Amino acid sequence: MCGIVGAIAQRPVAAILLEGLRRLEYRGYDSAGIAVLDQVGKLNRLRTLGKVARLRDEVAAAPLSGTLGIAHTRWATHGEPAVRNAHPHICRDRCVLVHNGIIENHEELRREQKAAGHHFTSETDTEVVVHAVYDELTAGYPLIEAVRRATARMTGAFALGVIDTQDPEHLVAARQGSPLVIGVGFGEHFIASDVFALLPVTHRFIFLEEGDIAELTRDTVRIWSRDGELVKRPVKESAVAADSAERGEYRHFMLKEIFEQPRAIADTLEGRLAGNRVLPEGFGNTAPDLFAQVKAVTIVACGTSYHAGLVARFWLESLAGLPCTVEVASEYRYRRHVVPESALFVTISQSGETADTLAALRIAKESGYATTLAICNVPESSLVRESDLVLLTHAGPEIGVASTKAFTTQLIALLLLTTALGRYHGLSEAAEARMVALMRSVPSKMEQVLALDDRIATLAEQFVDKQHTLFLGRGEQYPIAMEGALKLKEISYIHAEAYPAGELKHGPLALIDENMPVVAVAPNNALLEKLKSNLEEVRARGGQLFVFADFAVPLTEESGVTVIRLPETDDLIDPLIFTIPMQLLAYHVAVLKGTDVDQPRNLAKSVTVE
Ligand code: F6R
Repeated sequence: MCGIVGAIAQRPVAAILLEGLRRLEYRGYDSAGIAVLDQVGKLNRLRTLGKVARLRDEVAAAPLSGTLGIAHTRWATHGEPAVRNAHPHICRDRCVLVHNGIIENHEELRREQKAAGHHFTSETDTEVVVHAVYDELTAGYPLIEAVRRATARMTGAFALGVIDTQDPEHLVAARQGSPLVIGVGFGEHFIASDVFALLPVTHRFIFLEEGDIAELTRDTVRIWSRDGELVKRPVKESAVAADSAERGEYRHFMLKEIFEQPRAIADTLEGRLAGNRVLPEGFGNTAPDLFAQVKAVTIVACGTSYHAGLVARFWLESLAGLPCTVEVASEYRYRRHVVPESALFVTISQSGETADTLAALRIAKESGYATTLAICNVPESSLVRESDLVLLTHAGPEIGVASTKAFTTQLIALLLLTTALGRYHGLSEAAEARMVALMRSVPSKMEQVLALDDRIATLAEQFVDKQHTLFLGRGEQYPIAMEGALKLKEISYIHAEAYPAGELKHGPLALIDENMPVVAVAPNNALLEKLKSNLEEVRARGGQLFVFADFAVPLTEESGVTVIRLPETDDLIDPLIFTIPMQLLAYHVAVLKGTDVDQPRNLAKSVTVE
């Protein structure tokens, strides 16, 4: 999604803004732009289609000097990716602005503004904001007031950075529904969509709340809440290291993040276990009391995080004995639901800013759930701040658009949750001790699977020229098959579908021929014999089978059947272990196809709009 960076300083800001944009690239974008106000009050703007590196080249060719500026990466929603639609947007050389989010009533405002004589240069929803602020400025209001008055007329979601070229002493920021942080420096202040953008210049941040409007000078920050009250928001020190968003020796962030999983799992378990037990307090001080009363669980999430929820449903129902429903947030938020008695509402999200998940949480809070819990990777995110209970996954920054370590840390967090809830619902001490021991074994098992990287890279060659792929799994491996299919389609652009293997003969078997590779996730579990019959159905029709199985699975390689052996594990942790070869397969196919692995086309990392 769009990324915003802004700076008001005593030193030139162009390089800071460009580096900020580079660090926001992972969010996904199709164009970029920068505007800097120079010493004589002239605004210089550059915008390009494509990568930030291109914008950087243009700035190198025509340097932008000045100590006040804003910059943006745009992910197209209204209006195609094109230079004219890229931000910053300017109104009559006076007002300049960057925006993340969607202005829902832009059509109505556009009609009014056109009638009033404004000339539109883009198809964006954003342009109505810049004209509206301009109108308030020319009516005599100072920038902060102009932004407040203009945004009061906007419905939808926005994070804004705004400059009045006649007022070089102020940068104004506003947040409603899209994330925005203020970076606090010495004699300089910054704004950005997330902390990573600003780590080279500061580690001190103010996290704006919903409805906040902020006025930044070089020396001060003043913030007004949604009710128009001057408020103090705490300055927080970020523990994220400046180089945590660097790729290091790896060719892609995605590969780095796949290999970081053993460490990320260990970090997520850290402090949450004591001896043979899970510490329910890890979810919040009130969690033990609340968990004791929970009689049902509802999980809502999107994409990969939704797949984590689907796995958790098996665990929660079979181990904690709790009825559990799992739903994608974009569906959940638009239907009427029956809230089960004493139910826990769980959201799962890497970013904590996914618009649909956040909206679902807000609805749940109004609908009578006993309590809400966020499983999330970003401590300062909206989801975390708005939930009663929180379990942070300690995956570290995930930059590759395709979620990898965020997924497996969500799974381990959900195992912690299952165990913590299970204790109040009949899970014995011995069973808990066994689960804890298995959780502790995950990092080393993962290391063994990562050693298969070369083998999977070779295997990937057999997928490169294919148009379609089928992924099969049963039980808790069906969501893992779904996740494998999602990874392959999003980064290699090969069409991939997942099916519960038992559904094959109800339709998809018609697709099977020698051009359709079929990937099966086959640990040695209670459903193995059933799965093997399903695989026979594929073989009998000339399908090319690629089976990921552990050593205990009695399967032999033969023509049309490739078996990739994984270490033996236990049913409980199989979903975490079998995910890794799916990630590696997708990664290597994408590399062979030459796609943009870390920033696949059309996708954004943090989906902050509907
Ligand atoms: C796929 C992927 C997406 C996200 C989804 C939800 O690799 O990353 O499907 O999982 O957009 O994002 P979060 O987890 O940030 O809510």
